[in-house]
Amino acid sequence: MKRENLKLFIQKFKPFYEEVKNDADCRKFVTKKYRHSIQVLQIGEEIAKRDDLLKNESPEFLALGEKALLFHDVGRFAEAGKMYEGHLFNNHDSLFFKKYDHGVMSYEMMKNEPGFDDVRILAALKHHGHMMEKFYEDEEFSSVKNAEIKREMTAILKWVRDADKLANFYIQKYEDNLKKDPFFVTMSEEVKNAPLSEGALAQFDAGKVILTSTITSYCDRLLCCLSWIFDLNYKASYMICAEQGYFEMLLAVLAEYNHNEELQKHVADRIHHELSIRAA
Ligand SMILES: [Fe+2]
Repeated sequence: MKRENLKLFIQKFKPFYEEVKNDADCRKFVTKKYRHSIQVLQIGEEIAKRDDLLKNESPEFLALGEKALLFHDVGRFAEAGKMYEGHLFNNHDSLFFKKYDHGVMSYEMMKNEPGFDDVRILAALKHHGHMMEKFYEDEEFSSVKNAEIKREMTAILKWVRDADKLANFYIQKYEDNLKKDPFFVTMSEEVKNAPLSEGALAQFDAGKVILTSTITSYCDRLLCCLSWIFDLNYKASYMICAEQGYFEMLLAVLAEYNHNEELQKHVADRIHHELSIRAA
């Protein structure tokens, strides 16, 4: 990790931490996001070390990627500031509303920063959490004429998206985050016990990432995490998932809540099939 990148990252973090530190929930949120950012960078570096495509990229590409990985969620600090000002942390429902688009906030915070005003970084900041269509439709990036810059921009965005997902799998497995996150903590018994919905299963069967807005049960939420298998981009990311047993972990939690054995087998078979193709 480049020292000047970390120094700037801390500079971006500090004022928001100072602003919200007296509110325990806010402080926990920004601290978690700080740790997540460092972890996304570390996982991104591991993917790059192991992936045949990324191994061949230039030092310039890798340096831009390092910035995109570390700063992708910097808008989360500003988001926490806004939530703090609006007293939204006291209202659990607001956590689901996603009132702010933190990717856009990351982009806004960094677009005029020397060394960051590069489409290859900015596209990753803005679109790391969106459906890829939104990136393809964004004129600022789709109008880039230089084919190599365009390729690098897409490759860095996909790299950040992979590292972000793997970092989330990591905390789900090692920090039991699936049962600590706001969705689990605030859901009703009804949602906890509800079966997989037809809508979620249809998206999964079509090989699509399940849209958060269509989730109606905890089983759906788990299937949504499993459906990320369709949205990883680098072979090394699949290899790491297979080695770490992330999908097995998610299938085991799903089996706890999903009482339809036939559906459980259906989902597990598809996951194993995808993994055998993509990690091989
Ligand atoms: Fe993010």
